[in-house]
Amino acid sequence: MTHQIITDLENRYTTKCYDASKRIPQADLDVIYQAMNLSASSINSQPWKFIVIESDEAKQRMHDTFANKFQFNQPHIKSASHIVLFAHNPHYSREDYAKVIDKGITDGRMGAEDREQAFGAFAFVELNTDDTGNNAAWTKSQAYLALGNTLHTLARLGIDSTTMEGVDSELIGEIFKEELGGYQCNVALAMGYHNAEKDYNAALPKSRLAIEDVLQVL
Ligand SMILES: Cc1cc2nc3c(=O)[nH]c(=O)nc-3n(C[C@H](O)[C@H](O)[C@H](O)COP(=O)(O)O)c2cc1C
Repeated sequence: MTHQIITDLENRYTTKCYDASKRIPQADLDVIYQAMNLSASSINSQPWKFIVIESDEAKQRMHDTFANKFQFNQPHIKSASHIVLFAHNPHYSREDYAKVIDKGITDGRMGAEDREQAFGAFAFVELNTDDTGNNAAWTKSQAYLALGNTLHTLARLGIDSTTMEGVDSELIGEIFKEELGGYQCNVALAMGYHNAEKDYNAALPKSRLAIEDVLQVL
């Protein structure tokens, strides 16, 4: 099959070693950030924060979060161009959803007179919230949608990336406490350009289960 989408997705792969001399142009970063913000989420909840690690100072802090575990991912922090922390709100509330509704009114999706009715959709959140008010499993799912959308955007732009669930959520929670503001980060994304000599993954063929093993057309 030849289609630009398939070509992009076949070319995308998880980079294992970055070229530390290369940086993503600002124009591409602007596209990436807009694409992240345009990600879909259940009831348009957007229960996420995208914390971009760009400066040397921020990279040092992120580097320090690998003190105890997942050191195999640590080299990417200083050699990739940027790292994004995908963080989710573990206690998504009516007040959080009110912001979404009010922005919807500002953007002309509904009239102010429909504001109360719009809260009906919050039932989806309640269905996914436990007795302690925790809905992290649900909000984390939404954050992963933004991650997937970002991976595809990067593929389109020809920018390399490494998804990292191998991050120390607890230490990130401590070292980026202020920026996270109560949100949790369980996954981060390194973005940049691979090291042509050292990235062993670049030359490996793509491997997926046979499509008939995972897809049924009824
Ligand atoms: C949610 C998630 C977490 C991952 N965590 C890591 C990680 O911590 N370190 C790493 O090198 N690769 C990680 N990967 C990369 C996967 O191993 C990789 O996507 C998979 O083997 C398919 O290979 P491809 O991305 O090259 O097509 C992760 C991927 C995903 C989607």
